Amino acid sequence: MNPTPVVLDVDTGVDDALAILLAVRSPALDLRAITCVAGNTDVDNVVANTLKALDAAGAGDIPVARGAATPLIEPVRPARHVHGDDGMADLKLPAPAREPVGEHAVELLRRTIADGPITLVTLAPLTNIALLLRTHPEVADQLERIVVMGGTAVVGNATASAEFNIRHDPEAAAIVFSAGVPITMYGLDVFYEPTIDPPTADRLAASAEPGAQLAGRLMQYQVDRYRGGGTLGDAGAVAAVIDPGGLRTERYPVRVELGGTFTRGQTVVDRRDWAGDLDNDPYVASHPQPGLVDVALGVDAARYCALFLSTVER
Ligand code: RIB
Ligand code: CA
Repeated sequence: MNPTPVVLDVDTGVDDALAILLAVRSPALDLRAITCVAGNTDVDNVVANTLKALDAAGAGDIPVARGAATPLIEPVRPARHVHGDDGMADLKLPAPAREPVGEHAVELLRRTIADGPITLVTLAPLTNIALLLRTHPEVADQLERIVVMGGTAVVGNATASAEFNIRHDPEAAAIVFSAGVPITMYGLDVFYEPTIDPPTADRLAASAEPGAQLAGRLMQYQVDRYRGGGTLGDAGAVAAVIDPGGLRTERYPVRVELGGTFTRGQTVVDRRDWAGDLDNDPYVASHPQPGLVDVALGVDAARYCALFLSTVER
């Protein structure tokens, strides 16, 4: 079977780096490009961290482009408490072996998608993708699918109701979710389940192979900082492209809340099979119609962990 052409949009990020290692090494994927955006850390750190992850994976030929430095409306809010000061576990890795390409992320996305067909995997705030869709609307008809690591049908992480990637740029997410592109939402309802145990993380970290070693060191960082295990996180969204059978999804209308003191950035997953008495309210009807989204509600965590280990470990 021919490998699936993919592009990643990242805010590398501990778990973004795990996703990059998996995408580079999977024979089921043809990684065409990676675009960077501010999120877990500032966009220049994201570029450097992305290039370092590609260096460790031995993938010096994958083009990397710098994208948006801030969300459309919100300020930048780096997640140092989760990813460290440099965004990649403060591992003091050597400087990247190369520079990013000179073009902006939106241009690299546009021309790569035009040469498609491309599955776009977004692992970060959706600022670059919103700018792409507003600058080159034709892209919406060219994309095969967007697999969004983001959102939640129930519990948030950035707030009680909103997931980090969506909450950091709700306006961008609203643009992407109403663009009419087929979307799989790999959200918090599955995100934390695929987790590697500490002894396995230690085994990877002891590897002489740079890619496996980096994966192990990143997972050890997670074990030390929280959760008691090495969460695949963003790498789970890449696994969902490689092995969609490991994911259970249901198709629902999804809206992104832009107002709300306590709900801004919530992905409102409408699981009703009836119309409510306020659905026809003129105020509700004045907003864009929600897109139908394949929402991930179950994941075979052991299957995705096994896939990650068999692919990344050499
Ligand atoms: O909520 C988790 C998401 O936010 C992950 O993509 C993580 O890397 C951060 O970007
Ligand atoms: Ca991320």
